[in-house]
Amino acid sequence: MVREVRFVLLGLGNIGRNLLDVLIHRAPYIEADYGLRFSLVAAVDTSGAACDPRGLDMRCVCDLKLSEQGVCAYPAVGIPGMSPLEVVQEAEADVLVEALPTNLKDGEPGMSCVRAALGKGWHVVMADKGPLVLTFAELTQLAREKGVRLFYSGTVAGGLPTVNIGVRDLAGSGVLRVEGIFNGTTNYILTRMEEEGISYEEALRGAQEAGIAEADPTLDVDGWDAANKLIIIANSVLRQPATLQDVQVEGIRQITLEDLRRARAEGKVIKPLAIAEKQEEGYALRVAPVALEENHPLARTGRWDMGVVYYTDFMGVISAIIEEKGPVPTSAAVLRDMMNIYAS
Ligand SMILES: NC(=O)c1ccc[n+]([C@@H]2O[C@H](COP(=O)([O-])OP(=O)(O)OC[C@H]3O[C@@H](n4cnc5c(N)ncnc54)[C@H](OP(=O)(O)O)[C@@H]3O)[C@@H](O)[C@H]2O)c1
Repeated sequence: MVREVRFVLLGLGNIGRNLLDVLIHRAPYIEADYGLRFSLVAAVDTSGAACDPRGLDMRCVCDLKLSEQGVCAYPAVGIPGMSPLEVVQEAEADVLVEALPTNLKDGEPGMSCVRAALGKGWHVVMADKGPLVLTFAELTQLAREKGVRLFYSGTVAGGLPTVNIGVRDLAGSGVLRVEGIFNGTTNYILTRMEEEGISYEEALRGAQEAGIAEADPTLDVDGWDAANKLIIIANSVLRQPATLQDVQVEGIRQITLEDLRRARAEGKVIKPLAIAEKQEEGYALRVAPVALEENHPLARTGRWDMGVVYYTDFMGVISAIIEEKGPVPTSAAVLRDMMNIYAS
């Protein structure tokens, strides 16, 4: 028996469009092996929306975006100017996928949409971390009250299952310490500096040219992006209600080539870490460049890698690394969440 799952997709950028692309390719396998058929009943971008309860043609939506048209140009059912919140309020669906830009001031436009969807009893999958960083407890409580799932495994290091390992696979064990490279841009910069003997400024320029650092790189290089991801790990895996004010944050701007060379001469590698350390009164949260022994799993990460290490009481030390060169692994993580909603 095949179960039809109707979903609304907010955001058709890197993540949303690649999600549709992955879905198109994987649909026969998902149906045959998991008994799920995903039907896109509404899609939204800045142009407006396209809504069809019988299901939109995902290839047509992708083609519109690839030809740089808004989704409101979708034949017959495109609606110029329709907002994400209006779509959530008016559509009938089972799952909301929220892949709108991250806003760390008030979480909008994603925040209102996630609240509305949970309120309607929809499951929610998020690629956007903004609403989680700002209101984790409220959103998870609302999901619990409504008896629906709220999944966000792509928000911390994209395709790397940082959240899933901690929440699901460490069940029954206590976490003593977490170390993560959650921000790819800073690892790229430090790794290139050392490998190529170039300055911070040159490596940052390279990251900007490669399209992995913003013109204003503050969020990445000053440690705030990693801190936001550590907050999601703290709230979800460590069950510690934490906000940005609870994280001690230090960026990588001050790291020089000489620092990296000196560390290497001592058998160490400087990596941009997010760390949660168990103490008597909860976990101390910190983001900083740290000199790791050369045989540490995160010391061996390459420029495109991110990683996580969980130190536990009963399960020993578990580490995972991902090589992630673009947005597709995050889109695949969104699909993983959509499927896990229905896993028994
Ligand atoms: N890219 C990654 O590798 C990655 C990894 C992990 C998490 N994320 C998170 O995933 C989310 C999506 O990222 P992305 O890279 O796909 O972003 P993006 O390429 O900038 O796409 C954003 C999408 O949202 C739409 N949008 C923006 N404001 C809107 C509004 N007010 N109303 C309706 N639609 C709106 C845009 O419409 P137009 O197409 O019309 O511009 C676009 O389709 C972000 O929160 C990001 O932080 C991204």
